[in-house]
Amino acid sequence: MESPFKPELLKGKVALITGGGSGIGLEISTQFGRHGAAVAIMGRRRHILDAAVAALQSEGIQVDPFTQILSRIRVNGIHPIRGRLVWGDLPKIKDDVDEGDKIITFSCTIVILCDNDFKSSPNPMIGYPSLKSGIQDHPQMAIGLEGDVRKREDSTRVIETTIRHFGKLDILVNGAAGNFLASPEDLSPNGFRTVLDIDSVGTYTMCHEALKYLKKGGPGKGPSTGGLILNISATLHYTASWYQIHLCAAKAAVDSITRSLALEWGTDYNIRVNGIAPGAIEGTPGLRKLYPEEMTSKTQEYMPLFKFGEKWDIAMAALYLASDAGKCVNGTTMVVDGGLWLSRPRH
Ligand code: HXC
Repeated sequence: MESPFKPELLKGKVALITGGGSGIGLEISTQFGRHGAAVAIMGRRRHILDAAVAALQSEGIQVDPFTQILSRIRVNGIHPIRGRLVWGDLPKIKDDVDEGDKIITFSCTIVILCDNDFKSSPNPMIGYPSLKSGIQDHPQMAIGLEGDVRKREDSTRVIETTIRHFGKLDILVNGAAGNFLASPEDLSPNGFRTVLDIDSVGTYTMCHEALKYLKKGGPGKGPSTGGLILNISATLHYTASWYQIHLCAAKAAVDSITRSLALEWGTDYNIRVNGIAPGAIEGTPGLRKLYPEEMTSKTQEYMPLFKFGEKWDIAMAALYLASDAGKCVNGTTMVVDGGLWLSRPRH
């Protein structure tokens, strides 16, 4: 469906979207790109990121040459799936090097760090002689960055790589989530903790690590511009949901983080912090996992609007909140569910 917003709505903005490689996150990434933002997508799985970046590329959103090269490189026949490219000579990139990284220097300015096990070939750069001019000539609009929000070092690295590629950060979208159906009787404390680690602690970690950059970025104009944070939540914890004790606790914490940061960072840094609570959105991993087919027709019976939401609906809400149209909205979690949660007690 066509967007009602003007194409240059987010022109010049840089957005980092965790969980941006699939489902709702990918639609937000795509719509942000279509509306002019440079987009960094963070996710755990390289092949999902590659597919997402390829999808953005097919939209005409140009892809950063580093990402293109990383996805095409083979060293001794092995794809460095956990590798990452860093631009800068060795002394400058020493802070990027993690323990166990293998460093392959392509030239004095480009280095690939790999934390999987493969041997360097003598010159893997053959075939990419125009890399440097490519970097200078092409706008960098979309990149995929591998990382797990449960690991603070991943969060820091991805944020810093985003800054290195795009120069700043205006918008952070926390979309990374983990979930499954489990009754409290069957759910181990570690299973409970895992979902809180991804959804709640992961959201907080990304916000915390991004703060110093968000202080300087932001959609607004004027002397005290600040960035924007969007936390993807849910409505399941507004009442209670069967087999979702972990997700409900995690998203309740996310909503609370949204309010606390909106108060403190809104006051101190003019950073707006909001959430979006999607309902049942068709074509998402969440719907497939949480609403098995036998439940979906029953669910539709009592939905006020009698239809599922689309990923597009969530992305449009994100665009509104990210634009100046939402400049007075801070600390709220916008429910985008067609009114579904109002009828949930009858579930
Ligand atoms: C019970 C489970 C389980 C399951 C994992 N665990 N899956 N317990 N039932 N189906 C428990 C494990 O037993 C283990 O505890 C602990 O959780 C960690 O499991 P791991 O498999 O080691 O964890 P990990 O590989 O890190 O994977 C975590 C994950 C994640 C949460 C399962 O991979 C995941 O869910 N990925 C899918 C992402 C997803 O579905 N996203 C959409 C979210 S939908 P023990 O005690 O055994 O060690 C959403 C929207 C909600 O958020 C609203 C919808 C309307």
